[in-house]
Amino acid sequence: MNNKKKVIEALAHTVFDHGALSNPFYRRWLSTPMKFYEVEIFARNYWARTCRTATMVALSLLRAKHLSARVEIVKNLYSELGCGDSAKAHSVLLQNYLLDLLSRLANRTYTLDELGAGQILPSTHVFIEEQDALYAPDGLGRPSSYVLGALLAQEWLAYSMLTRLYEGARNYQHLYTNNDEFHERCEYFYIHIGDAEKEHKIQSVTAAALECDNEEDLIGLTTGFNRFLDITENYWNGISQAIEGGHALESNA
Ligand SMILES: [Fe+2]
Ligand SMILES: [Fe+2]
Repeated sequence: MNNKKKVIEALAHTVFDHGALSNPFYRRWLSTPMKFYEVEIFARNYWARTCRTATMVALSLLRAKHLSARVEIVKNLYSELGCGDSAKAHSVLLQNYLLDLLSRLANRTYTLDELGAGQILPSTHVFIEEQDALYAPDGLGRPSSYVLGALLAQEWLAYSMLTRLYEGARNYQHLYTNNDEFHERCEYFYIHIGDAEKEHKIQSVTAAALECDNEEDLIGLTTGFNRFLDITENYWNGISQAIEGGHALESNA
């Protein structure tokens, strides 16, 4: 088990050199404050993808064969859903953060309808479809470890993604009355950086190791893992291009 965990941890560490984490969107988000319409592009596409996270974790629970792996995944799902408090569900905390930031940037109330009903990018649609295919129960004979590989990638990307998004969020601190108000609005980030995602990383390695009985399972795990990284890179590149495309339109005007 320990050896297996080491192999899986080594695989998990490859996220740090992948375009899923090292990409032009993060560089832009971290550099200087973006305009309202640029933040809106990010927010709509991030919301469209991230509001489905708990469902993906639930699907991986259904696919896992081993009881102990399921127990690990349930811990993750419980935390995603607010540990029994719906007001603390991660999707609710994210929604609160995004609507508040967009309202401040627009200088008016920005509604959930606007966030959810606005057009999302073709690349985000592709991500959602590919993610559904990754986590779906399938008749393709893929080992259950394939889904655990996707979950492993999702969880190992999440912590670093959230530290980057939080650092970029600090570029908008001037929109808040004072420091305390800014930090109160950042609960979505703090819950992930301080606790949840650190736990999810450990749980995803444990669940993956429990689910891998042989070489074929390990190959399935690696394939699902790499696929998730690739679709994530494509997703962030789509957002980056849309923002850069907006610049091109602006300078042509
Ligand atoms: Fe979360
Ligand atoms: Fe997570």
